Amino acid sequence: MTSEGRAPADSYTEMVQVVLPNDANPMGFVLGGHVMHQIDIVGAIAAHRHTRCPMVTAAVDGLQFLHPILVGDLMIVTARVTGAFRTSVEVEVEVFSERILTGERQLTSVAYLTFVTLEQDGARATVPPLTADTDEDRQRLAAAEARRAIRLRDRRRGP
Ligand SMILES: CC(C)(COP(=O)(O)OP(=O)(O)OC[C@H]1O[C@@H](n2cnc3c(N)ncnc32)[C@H](O)[C@@H]1OP(=O)(O)O)[C@@H](O)C(=O)NCCC(=O)NCCS
Repeated sequence: MTSEGRAPADSYTEMVQVVLPNDANPMGFVLGGHVMHQIDIVGAIAAHRHTRCPMVTAAVDGLQFLHPILVGDLMIVTARVTGAFRTSVEVEVEVFSERILTGERQLTSVAYLTFVTLEQDGARATVPPLTADTDEDRQRLAAAEARRAIRLRDRRRGP
């Protein structure tokens, strides 16, 4: 594994899809489970782009659905690595709805996922450091470190 740093932009990933009736409830709202699936997939792509190493999802912090995404809307899922630790990374995933005819966008969910390296033989690889060259990147990194401290404290307490 390279020890060369990677920037948040190196892992940035965006997925756009149109919400179809099969992915919605009878009220025409996209299913929460569908959104969670896309969050996991797009988050995993960002994690792998940062590490280029096999990884598994270890944790998803509290997830809220702030506004419905309706059938016919675009669902946009973006992800970037916000923290790189020893063998794990934190990925921030944001979900937006976009009205296809007006372009109106709303943030509908924010999720923080932790991915851990796991080779076929069970070994762990160390992850490349995350570079933070702008004030915004430095703030994101500090926030990721604060969230990790809470996560590890809660993990020690158990479920
Ligand atoms: C995730 C998993 C590999 C962790 O294994 P473990 O032996 O408990 O992990 P360790 O104590 O060695 O910690 C390894 C890293 O994971 C992190 N980690 C483990 N569990 C975590 C959790 N619940 N939340 C946040 N970080 C976690 C640790 O902080 C450590 O990171 P660091 O090296 O950057 O400090 C293991 O629990 C597992 O395989 N879970 C199932 C994963 C899965 O099936 N996911 C869905 C499909 S991808």
